[in-house]
Amino acid sequence: MQALVTGATSGIGRAIALALHGAGHQVVALGRQKDALAELKALGIDARCADLADRASLAAALDGLAPDVLMNNAGMVAAPGNFCDMAEVDIHRLVAINLTQALLVTHAIAPGMRARGLGHIFFTGSVAAYAPYPNMAVYAATKAALGAFAQSLRLDLSPAGVRVTEIVAGRVESPLYKDVLTPGARAAMYAGQTAVQPEDVAAMVLAVLNLPTHVDVARFDILPTRQPVTPQVPAAEKSK
Ligand SMILES: NC(=O)c1ccc[n+]([C@@H]2O[C@H](COP(=O)([O-])OP(=O)(O)OC[C@H]3O[C@@H](n4cnc5c(N)ncnc54)[C@H](OP(=O)(O)O)[C@@H]3O)[C@@H](O)[C@H]2O)c1
Repeated sequence: MQALVTGATSGIGRAIALALHGAGHQVVALGRQKDALAELKALGIDARCADLADRASLAAALDGLAPDVLMNNAGMVAAPGNFCDMAEVDIHRLVAINLTQALLVTHAIAPGMRARGLGHIFFTGSVAAYAPYPNMAVYAATKAALGAFAQSLRLDLSPAGVRVTEIVAGRVESPLYKDVLTPGARAAMYAGQTAVQPEDVAAMVLAVLNLPTHVDVARFDILPTRQPVTPQVPAAEKSK
């Protein structure tokens, strides 16, 4: 089976790409970081450079693909802070990367799955979609929209036998905040709890995929045992 993973160069997506590859799937991995793409290629994974914000780059990367599994995982955070202080460019970028590209990738791939009567589409969502999340209002909005899309898409595709799963992730220890928080602030985020590891999410994805095709896990929540439902994200220092 062919599996397409977006955001496969880092964190959760990388762990999922490796797990799917290890389970014998033919994996197509998308991302931009050249070293990470080269590492995946060295393992035998079809790793392709694509900027998901660029329509031409995305179209080139998807050309000729007809995956049975689509992992819509790529995402980003902007510097956490009060919405009133947010740069307009960050609002556009969050919507483009966390929401619009996932809709466009799905729009390119889902018709083939519907025609073949086979497929499984995952979305990496967030607990931020379901509970108030300070300093992350636009991120939360993009994940809420993604969740609503996933649940509605499932109703469009279920008559054709295509499964849709929304992953509602709590705090996962990944490089997600590396460009927007200081190392100290990032360390503080993970203190006092054992964060979910990217490999834990990948294990759940494999478990869900391996269920019989008459079973669809429409959504699963995965968060650290000791994490409250709404974790705190500190404002980035520069916006204080
Ligand atoms: N970590 C958490 O606590 C957490 C919690 C809930 C949900 N999530 C979600 O989990 C998903 C994966 O995040 P992560 O935690 O694994 O963070 P990460 O390690 O930073 O991974 C993000 C991935 O998205 C890709 N990406 C971002 N912008 C892109 C662009 N313009 N074009 C192509 N690829 C792009 C990155 O690829 P390049 O760097 O190569 O461009 C990278 O592979 C995201 O959707 C995130 O919102 C994470």
